[in-house]
Amino acid sequence: MKMWSGRFREPLDPAFERWQRSFPFDQRLLKHEVQASRAYARALRKVGVLSTEELASLESGLDQIAENALISPDFLNDDDAEDVHHFLEKRLIASLGDVGRKLHSGRSRNEQIATDLRLYVRESIDQLYASLAELLEALQTRAEQAGDAVMSAYTHLQRAEPVLVAHWLLAYVEMFIRDAERLQDCRKRVNLCPLGSGAVAGSTLALDRDAMAADLGFDAPTANSIDATCDRDFVVEYVNVLSLLALHLSRWAEEMILFSTTEFGFIELPEAFSTGSSAMPQKKNPDFLELARGKSGLILGNATALQISLKGLPLAYNKDLQEMQEPLFDASETMLALVPLTAEWLKKGGFDLAHMQRAADTGFLNAFAAATYLTEKGVPFRLAHEQVGKAVQLCLEKGCELKDLSLAELRQIGPSFDHDFYSRLSVNAVLAIHDVPGGTAVGRVKQALAEAKQKISMMRGAVHAHA
Ligand code: ARG
Repeated sequence: MKMWSGRFREPLDPAFERWQRSFPFDQRLLKHEVQASRAYARALRKVGVLSTEELASLESGLDQIAENALISPDFLNDDDAEDVHHFLEKRLIASLGDVGRKLHSGRSRNEQIATDLRLYVRESIDQLYASLAELLEALQTRAEQAGDAVMSAYTHLQRAEPVLVAHWLLAYVEMFIRDAERLQDCRKRVNLCPLGSGAVAGSTLALDRDAMAADLGFDAPTANSIDATCDRDFVVEYVNVLSLLALHLSRWAEEMILFSTTEFGFIELPEAFSTGSSAMPQKKNPDFLELARGKSGLILGNATALQISLKGLPLAYNKDLQEMQEPLFDASETMLALVPLTAEWLKKGGFDLAHMQRAADTGFLNAFAAATYLTEKGVPFRLAHEQVGKAVQLCLEKGCELKDLSLAELRQIGPSFDHDFYSRLSVNAVLAIHDVPGGTAVGRVKQALAEAKQKISMMRGAVHAHA
C-alpha cells in the first residue's frame, strides 16, 4: 500500500512509478531512518500517542529492521518501496500491524528526509575528518623523514628557489588542515534536528523537540519548520568543502605524477598503487594518482549539480530535492574512499631525496639570494637584480653556475661583488636567509613542523574522543 493512496482513483503509470522511486539510492539512509524513527517514537510516547508497550514493540521492530538490513542484503530487495521511509513503514506494518501504522502520527517524510540527510552528512564528516587526520599524519611522517633534505621550489613550473622537502610537504599539510577545519565548521550547521517540523508548518503534536534533538546527538532543534523541511544548503556546503579537498588532492596528485616522470625522477611510484601497460612492457603507470586527480572533476560536477537543483526552488519542500541525494552520496562516498587510499599511497611512495637535492644544486636557485647579497652591500634592488641577471647570462654562455665565475668577471658586471659573495651561494646559505615565520630556513621549518604536529595530534585526539 502507498503512503498516500486515499485520494487517488487511478494507479500510477508503472513506468513513472519505477522512474520516480528513490529507494534504489536512499536505502543507504536506512540506519539513519531507523535511528530517527526511534527518537520520534519516544516523543510520541511522551505525548500519549503510543503506550509504553507500543513504544517497546516499535523499538524492537526498528532494531529488527536494522539487523536484517545488516545481515541480509536481500532484505532490501523491494520493488514496491517508493523510498526509504515507505520501506521502513511497510516493514513495521508487516511485523507489528497497527502499531506500525501509528509511527507516522504527526510526521511527514519532508522532515524525515531532512533529518536522515543531516545524520548521513554528519556521519560522513566525522569519518572523513578521521581519514584526513590519518592523511595528515602520513604527510607529517614524510616531512619528518625528509629531515634537512632540499629540493627546488618552482614558480611557473620553472626552478625558483631551494626549499626544504619538509617545507614543501607542509604546504599540503596546511591545505588539508584547512579542509579539516572547514569540515568541522560545516558540521555545526549540519548538526540541528528537523524532527517536529512536520510537512512545512510544524508538527500537529506537542512533541518534545529538544528531547528528539538530544536523542539523536544534535546540538538543538532547527528554528523554522519551513526552512528545516526544504533547507539543503548544508548539503551544498558539505559538497563544496569536499570540492576544495578534492582540488587539493588533485593538485597533489598532479605534482606526484610530474615528479614521478623519468624527467624529474623525484618520486618512485609504489607498485601496489600502479599498473602496467598491456602494450608497452616497460610501463609503470600512476593510475591511483590519475584517478585521484580525475575525481576532482566528478566532485566539482556534483557540487555544481547540487547548487543548480536548489536554485529557483520556491519554499518549501519540492520533489526536486530528491535529486540532490545522488550527487551528495556520490561526492561523499568518493572522498571517503579516496582519502584513506591517499594516506596509504603516501606511506608507500618512494621519495628520492638525493635526486631532489641534486636538482636543487644547479639552475641558479641562488640568484634571488645573490641579488639580496648585493642589496646588503647598498646596491638598490632593481640594479642588483639587473647585475645578477647579467651574471646568470654570462654563466649560460659559459655553461657554468654563479659560483664558477671569477671575482674579476663579477666585478666587471658590478663593483660591489666581493670575496664573501661565494659563501652566500650554497644551498644552505640560501635557505638560511629565508628566516621568517613561514619561510624555509631550517629552524623555521622545524618550528612549523612542530606546530603542525600539535594540530594533527589534536585532530587525532578529537577523533578518538568522538569514537
Ligand atoms: N523520497 C523523498 C525525497 O527524498 C522523501 C520526501 C517525500 N516527500 C513528499 N512530500 N513527497 O525527497
